[in-house]
Amino acid sequence: MIITIDGPAAAGKGTLAAKLAEKYGLAYFDTGMTYRAVGLAMTLDGRDINDAAAAEEYARKLTFPQMLELAKNPEFRSSKNGVAASVVSAYPGVRQALLQMQRDFALNPVFADGTPANGAVYDGRDTGTVVCPQADFKFFITASPEIRAERRFKELQAKGMETPYAEVLADMKARDERDSKRAAAPLKPAEDAVIMDNSELNIEEMVGVAAGVIDAHK
Ligand code: DC
Repeated sequence: MIITIDGPAAAGKGTLAAKLAEKYGLAYFDTGMTYRAVGLAMTLDGRDINDAAAAEEYARKLTFPQMLELAKNPEFRSSKNGVAASVVSAYPGVRQALLQMQRDFALNPVFADGTPANGAVYDGRDTGTVVCPQADFKFFITASPEIRAERRFKELQAKGMETPYAEVLADMKARDERDSKRAAAPLKPAEDAVIMDNSELNIEEMVGVAAGVIDAHK
């Protein structure tokens, strides 16, 4: 079984994906990590993320184990690296280069410890539209920019990163704008996605709605 969860930054995709993966015994692939890995690898090497050709070269060379290694860097989840990921993700060559790695996971899904799984939950921006259009269940999660910025701000604070709320909100809005207006695979719900606005829903309620949809058609 393949489940996709798309939506803007900090809409709660990761939390929902993890809960559904646990509930149905599926592996989990956060596709934003592939773009974050390219952004961070370039930054660490002192390369300019506005250089599309260089970004494409980094994307072509990226392997799954390298991505997991880069994810250990505290900067990987920073607001700044989120913006870098969003910039490089707008280059069609970067998206094309990362697509195979993203699709391969659905063919051979594995848990974090490497053991095989019977399916996967994907999260990202285009997993229901481009990466896994064949998915069994597709969800599109959204919430207001202010609510998402507040969640991300608290998350960063909990990790000891002192980014001011105003900066997190500004980064969030800039990313929303770039992710939804780019020509290559813009952020939009798949035609067959179930759309959920979680501004007023807590995580348990979201899981309940999603599980209701899945259990009704499984
Ligand atoms: O979900 P995230 O914040 O880790 O994603 C970082 C950036 O990567 C996001 O701003 C846009 C890009 N992204 C994408 O273009 N397509 C995906 N499937 C996932 C992420």
